[in-house]
Amino acid sequence: MIRSQQSPASSPASRPAPPAATDTLLSSVGLLALDRQYAVLRESIRAAIDRVCDSGRFVLGPDVAELEKELARELGVPHVISCGSGSDALLLALMALDIQPGDEVILPSYTFFATASAVTRLGAVPIFADIDPTSFLIDPVEVKRKISRRTKAIMPVHLFGRTADMDALLPIAQAAGIPIVEDAAQSILSSWHGRCTGGLGDIGCFSFYPTKNLGGIGDGGFLTTTRDDLAASLKLLRVHGMEPRYYHQVVGINSRLDTIQAAVLRVKLPHLEAWTTSRQTNAARYLDLFADYHLDRSINVPTEEPRGRHVWNQFVIRVNDGQRDALRTHLTKCNVGTEIYYPVPLHLQKCFAHLGWSVGDLPETERAAKETLALPIFPELQPAEQRTVVGRIAEFFNAPPLRKSRDEETRTHAPEQVVDEPHYLRKMNAVGRADDVRC
Ligand SMILES: Cc1ncc(COP(=O)(O)O)c(C=O)c1O
Repeated sequence: MIRSQQSPASSPASRPAPPAATDTLLSSVGLLALDRQYAVLRESIRAAIDRVCDSGRFVLGPDVAELEKELARELGVPHVISCGSGSDALLLALMALDIQPGDEVILPSYTFFATASAVTRLGAVPIFADIDPTSFLIDPVEVKRKISRRTKAIMPVHLFGRTADMDALLPIAQAAGIPIVEDAAQSILSSWHGRCTGGLGDIGCFSFYPTKNLGGIGDGGFLTTTRDDLAASLKLLRVHGMEPRYYHQVVGINSRLDTIQAAVLRVKLPHLEAWTTSRQTNAARYLDLFADYHLDRSINVPTEEPRGRHVWNQFVIRVNDGQRDALRTHLTKCNVGTEIYYPVPLHLQKCFAHLGWSVGDLPETERAAKETLALPIFPELQPAEQRTVVGRIAEFFNAPPLRKSRDEETRTHAPEQVVDEPHYLRKMNAVGRADDVRC
């Protein structure tokens, strides 16, 4: 109904101010505010770092072993093997599966670069599959169609925190005798029929990059597996294939988790479930707010899958009618942080030009790259900030709120003020820093 009031070609940002209550909106909302989490945990994190420095054990060490045990318990998997990053986890997984030059690996093109570079680093060939347009996740029908004699692994990505359709993917992989490597970098604690991602396929790969749901204070990652043989290989491969010391069984890589990272992550892990619940609450609030403004002609909001648990590493909307970039410009002008995950699909990246993919090969992937926009969803995000994000979007589309939001009904008029404002809001640098926003 919003579209019917205007021509899609017109520039919404240049229209007269809409009747949305812009006077109640905040002057800025960051895509991320990692400082809010740190403000709460500062003392415990500093104590953990001190403890490691005092011990003089900086690589692997007791905190790493403890973290691996705690994660295994939390995720319900028998083996957790930490490593240097999520990118290394993907590489190690394919090495453990003995992926060789010329082997094919099926994966989505709509994902972070590391999913595909792990394949090409080994001389193997990424075979990109298109995505489902609603979930943005790999389309199992495409996977089945692209299996060949050379296919040696399938890599679904649980993108944005939502689990790929494992009911469809597992039987396809099992029938073809092909292992599944789950890229779970964005999906810690997400699940499928109650089982955590990372324990659904043969190997799961996770990232501790600071913006992830469980983020360190630098790079880090880990692998999960239910298979004893793969766990043994992964432990060997992450330390140059060395066992015992200075005797090398295979050629591995150096990818160990720093003890400081492990110690900090052990402080954070007990909070992960509560942070995840906050992300879910924030997602539900966005859905209410978008419904309040009746923006459904202009915006498609993300959906949930009843068979899985969505952990909302990102809240990604689809903006219709070619308005994504103009909307983003408007939000940037209003100091609302957003990000595009991902503007160029991997099959069209310059470094993969030699693979021979062209525009039009993966239509849903290419459309998603042009239409999607990630909004702030971090656990400490405040209701007033979410009202500002959606209010600014409504402002762009000239959409008056057609009914009052639940938050609005209970709130007295208080522009620029958050009721019971936590101390981290008073001093925060509201707009996320550019180097912290990649996913
Ligand atoms: C889907 C996906 N795969 C892999 C990675 C790589 O993880 P890392 O940055 O820890 O290397 C990331 C995140 O950066 C990611 O989002």
